[in-house]
Amino acid sequence: MRVTASRKAHFNAAHRLHRKDWSDEQNKAVFGKCNNPHYHGHNYELLVHVTGEIDQETGYVIDLKILKDLIKNEIENAFDHKNLNEQVPEFKNLNPTAENIVVVIWNKLKAKLDAKYDLEVVLYETPRNFVSYKGG
Ligand code: NI
Repeated sequence: MRVTASRKAHFNAAHRLHRKDWSDEQNKAVFGKCNNPHYHGHNYELLVHVTGEIDQETGYVIDLKILKDLIKNEIENAFDHKNLNEQVPEFKNLNPTAENIVVVIWNKLKAKLDAKYDLEVVLYETPRNFVSYKGG
């Protein structure tokens, strides 16, 4: 029996959507308010779904305390109250759209999880706008 165990998490972060190789006009036309040179913040909500077999001894798919600590160490500590463009190395040359952020988060968590698990990450940038990634 494969079951999905999930954990919710949260971080606040600032970003600016901008391509250095585009003109200011092109950046503004494509990214609009998100191109604001003074940055702007979001309250990001994260859903992390881990799917695997129920362990016959513990009855767990994954110990949610371990998943909680993993998200805290790998994601919250790295992203919370940060300027993603300036302070998070992964976005030095990568536009911090929700799409790119969810892939970065997935890669960071996947690298620390046992390969037996399937991982899906959902990232809400606003209560109504969200993206998801499950690899591939
Ligand atoms: Ni934004």
